[in-house]
Amino acid sequence: MKQIQMLDLKLEYEYMKKDIDSALARCLEHQKWIFGPEVRELEEALAAYLGVKHCIGVSSGTEALVLSLRALAIKTKGAEYFDRTDEIVTTPFTFTATGDAILRSGATPVFVDIDPETYNIDVNAVREYLGSSSGRVKGIIPVHLYGQSCRMDAIMDLAGKHDLFVVEDIAQAFGGGWQGRKLGSIGTTGCFSFFPSKNLGGFGDGGMISCNDEELDSLLRMLLKHGGRDKYNVDHIGYNARLDTLQAAIVLAKFKYIDEFNERRRKVAALYDKGLQGLDGLVLPVADPLPDVHHVYHQYTVRAKKRSNVQAYLKDKGIATMVYYPFPLHKMKVFEGRMKMHGDLRHSELAASEVFSLPVEPLQSVEDTEAIVTALRGFNK
Ligand SMILES: Cc1ncc(COP(=O)(O)O)c(C=O)c1O
Repeated sequence: MKQIQMLDLKLEYEYMKKDIDSALARCLEHQKWIFGPEVRELEEALAAYLGVKHCIGVSSGTEALVLSLRALAIKTKGAEYFDRTDEIVTTPFTFTATGDAILRSGATPVFVDIDPETYNIDVNAVREYLGSSSGRVKGIIPVHLYGQSCRMDAIMDLAGKHDLFVVEDIAQAFGGGWQGRKLGSIGTTGCFSFFPSKNLGGFGDGGMISCNDEELDSLLRMLLKHGGRDKYNVDHIGYNARLDTLQAAIVLAKFKYIDEFNERRRKVAALYDKGLQGLDGLVLPVADPLPDVHHVYHQYTVRAKKRSNVQAYLKDKGIATMVYYPFPLHKMKVFEGRMKMHGDLRHSELAASEVFSLPVEPLQSVEDTEAIVTALRGFNK
């Protein structure tokens, strides 16, 4: 029986083999493994693509978030870390790293609920919380989940009114857009992940921060290499969070294909949309009805009350599925006693119990997508 995986990275490598092999050969030739030329080349290419002044390569999407928050604490408070009375608002329906980065920056995460249709942070809930928080909130982290933009105009509007920073978590939405602007060019900083399965992924860990602010750029460049201007002039509590030359070279080679691959993802999603319409008990993803939201389908996520039955049925037919995410962050031990919740977060909890994602491999054949559709249509028959 044919197995259909969530993603086929080998197939993608074969598609880009010439570019990737020559990028690797170039590294082997120059042997500049730390801050090799590819790091700066990638930073410049992404800054031009996103339309921002600065891109700073870092070791992962998680470190992109932590360093952004640390740099913002230094810039806005003159302190190395936030403290527990400083609050940062985000969604509980995300990968652990989003909330964990807030803890690591010294602040308290405040979880507000999601919009049950797009799974992104509910801006009305953010507005409500800000109305009652008497100035403790310092910033917002919108997560562009599954490749779809949050409502960035409303978020930036609230941030402007309450003097907050906005750190965009774009780990899942490289190349995505909001009303003509690329995600990562709207907030105070944008945090990208090059984890292998991301829309633009390396062959290991890596990440990038985008921003338009000179001071943040120089703080971030210090923090990522132990906190100093150089090895012996160390001003801040820093990290070893450099983007590896090899990963930069691979990501740079793959970057050439990102728009094509995102378009391919959108085509797979369109086939699912068409084929799965009207199926009893299966809720399809809702693209934000506002114009100019460029969804890049990092995941094609559906929901079903009988999730485990549907997943088991598909597994029997050789079709992989995954749940992102089975637990909202406020249910995790690490956040106990260290977070605040606004409301009961019921949409996040319900989503966590019902969602699952179908394979979206950019190079997935029409036949495979149709086989998945046919299998799903056969469930319960
Ligand atoms: C929404 C979100 N934020 C942050 C991260 C962290 O990125 P990384 O795995 O590169 O540290 C991920 C990826 O796993 C993610 O999906």
